[in-house]
Amino acid sequence: MPEKVLTNHDLEKMVDTSDDWITERTGIKERRISRPDQAASDLACEAAKRALKKAQLKVEKIDLIIVATVSGDMPLPSTACLLQKKLGAANAAAMDINAACSGFIYALSVADAFIRSGKYKKILVVGAEALSKFTDWQDRTTCVLLGDGAGAAVLVPDRGRGILSVDIYSDGRLWDLLHVPAGGSAMPASKETVEKRLHYIKMKGNETFKVAVRTLENLVIETLKKNNLKPSQLSLLIPHQANLRIIKATAERLGLPMERVVVNLTRYGNTSAASIPVALDEAIDEGRIKEGDYIMLEAFGGGLTWGSALIKW
Ligand code: UT7
Repeated sequence: MPEKVLTNHDLEKMVDTSDDWITERTGIKERRISRPDQAASDLACEAAKRALKKAQLKVEKIDLIIVATVSGDMPLPSTACLLQKKLGAANAAAMDINAACSGFIYALSVADAFIRSGKYKKILVVGAEALSKFTDWQDRTTCVLLGDGAGAAVLVPDRGRGILSVDIYSDGRLWDLLHVPAGGSAMPASKETVEKRLHYIKMKGNETFKVAVRTLENLVIETLKKNNLKPSQLSLLIPHQANLRIIKATAERLGLPMERVVVNLTRYGNTSAASIPVALDEAIDEGRIKEGDYIMLEAFGGGLTWGSALIKW
């Protein structure tokens, strides 16, 4: 995570909001902000180096890099290629995935398929976001929610454990609930688009909230059912960190006590594709995951997209 902390009290001085409103409606207390010279690939690089160290893997062994991001360094080339250069991962192919907050789950599903097919054996999967650079710091409906960060994982083939099932879904009909209007081929950058602040993230928060709650409750239950597991067999739920109310609603529906749910949005806000790998890493460091545990990752975000991954650790 970047070092700079931006608290709710700091935001009170920037827009018409309050610590009480943000805490009550979202659970967020503070978020991290990348330096002006820190792009998504820089955050990704730090996370990737730590993941490779933990996996005791030399960078030359990586044969595929997947970066999930919606706040990449530039439209061309992919942030994954820039990360490849920074890491010196000479033997890897590299690509980005744009599935917003579900990006890490989407990236895992691609990695899982490549590993199961035998095509690749060592895949670096990164969720990296520098959302602060796409945030309208005059828009209180979005700027209090978002934060920067990156997390990474190394996937290798194994038998009897690992990803049991990973499922991804989308509904493009709801694309406009969460989007950046300008800067693409639909509305190329111009003086006017900059003046109208159209290069920033726009979200219809309340509508997104309702779809998220409905979708996630069913998603987790369906994933467990497909794998013949009961919610009580789940050791840990690692949800995308968008809103504490969404997370609590999902846990409640499953009958899962909050001790078995990872929550770190209090400190980081919504970091989109980075939220799940960061939460996973923290849960491992805190000793919350043991060998043989069933872990569920789930996310929901722009696209709309959503997905889940059930893992036997
Ligand atoms: O990352 C994956 C996708 N994203 C999500 O899943 C996020 C989903 N949405 C949410 O988390 C919530 O909808 C928000 C936290 C964004 C908003 O909470 P809400 O309970 O849905 O509030 P609202 O949008 O219905 O707004 C309630 C009121 C409005 O005022 P009026 O119209 O009732 O007078 C807003 O103008 O709160 C006002 N408001 C604020 N007040 C203080 C909106 N933003 C703020 C703010 N500070 N930052």
